[in-house]
Amino acid sequence: EALMSFDRFGRHIHYLRISLTDHCNLRCRYCMPEDMTFRPNAEMLQDDELLLLVRLFASLGFDKLRLTGGEPTVRAQIVPLVQAITATPGIRAVSMTTNGVLLGKLAQPLKAAGLQRVNISLDTLNPQRFRQLTRWGSFDQVWEGILAAERAGLTPLKLNAVVVRGYNEADTADLAGLTLEHPWQVRFIEMMPFAGETDTQLNHVVRAEEIMARIEAVHGPLQPENDGQLDGEARIFRLRGAAGQVGFISSVSAPFCAACTRARLTADGKLRLCLLREKEVDLLTPLRAGAGIDELRQLILDGVWHKPWGHGLAQGEVALNRTMSEIGG
Ligand code: GTP
Ligand code: 5AD
Ligand code: SF4
Repeated sequence: EALMSFDRFGRHIHYLRISLTDHCNLRCRYCMPEDMTFRPNAEMLQDDELLLLVRLFASLGFDKLRLTGGEPTVRAQIVPLVQAITATPGIRAVSMTTNGVLLGKLAQPLKAAGLQRVNISLDTLNPQRFRQLTRWGSFDQVWEGILAAERAGLTPLKLNAVVVRGYNEADTADLAGLTLEHPWQVRFIEMMPFAGETDTQLNHVVRAEEIMARIEAVHGPLQPENDGQLDGEARIFRLRGAAGQVGFISSVSAPFCAACTRARLTADGKLRLCLLREKEVDLLTPLRAGAGIDELRQLILDGVWHKPWGHGLAQGEVALNRTMSEIGG
């Protein structure tokens, strides 16, 4: 029977975000430099190591998994890997966050492998700006990927737009307009600062209130859904008569740490307890040194127990040891 993982603040930690690789086939400007260097494969969790850890986490009560990256779909043998992950007893829901580039080809096989749904990053509907933001991405290819995901039943579909001052804040109304026709949830995300140019990044955050005003100026009032309660980490609204919803993830202006249920497994096998805190527990080194199941389980439970309360962005504290692409957002 499953043990439960609680932290010292009484939060039940049962949502594991697994970064399958730090590699990506795009270079979004807020995420990584154009000449990004990636980790050597030998430092990464291999399939058998990853699956062993997934079984361990499942035995500790983790029941919701999200596969991230970098870009998870560029990992070798992604379809059989997803198949093995979704087949793990105790895992109830497996979803993926992807840039959508490869979904035209992979949506159907991933669904067949047991993946439930996908969240797809899409920061603009303007093909030229899309190319600028991602450095070489093709909007049309991602749009094809989105439609393929819907056809394959990787639904409900969520689209994530990170809003960056001077780049795409003017594209937010068009993005929200997608929900008029499509039953998708379009979520606007405040950019979080990461290792790198923290001050510049904080200065480029566009707050939810501003985005809401931009959307309402074009499409009319956004009506709160869900009785105004958070859906996961997002505040949810609907435009009048719309098929889909508009959401806001305000990690900077309205932190949701108190209700956090997450832990992360990095591609190099570290348990990371908070997106924006440096604290990590190395699982891969003991695993390769022959640690037993009980020892690994104890490392996870201790790590979870000491999960930091939350990020310290309001106090200007930023974790500097990892880029976003290594942690998977
Ligand atoms: P759902 O299951 O669909 O709710 O997925 P999700 O929203 O948890 O996953 P997704 O990968 O789509 O994350 C969307 C955004 O939420 C990311 O871009 C991050 O900005 C933010 N986010 C994810 N995890 C955390 C976290 O632990 N802390 C904070 N502050 N933000 C997070
Ligand atoms: N702040 C917030 N979200 C980010 N993402 C990438 N970089 C950042 C950042 N600096 C988003 C991606 C993806 C999700 C996993 O994280 O757009 O949708
Ligand atoms: Fe790749 Fe996602 Fe980072 Fe863009 S945000 S470079 S798609 S990992």
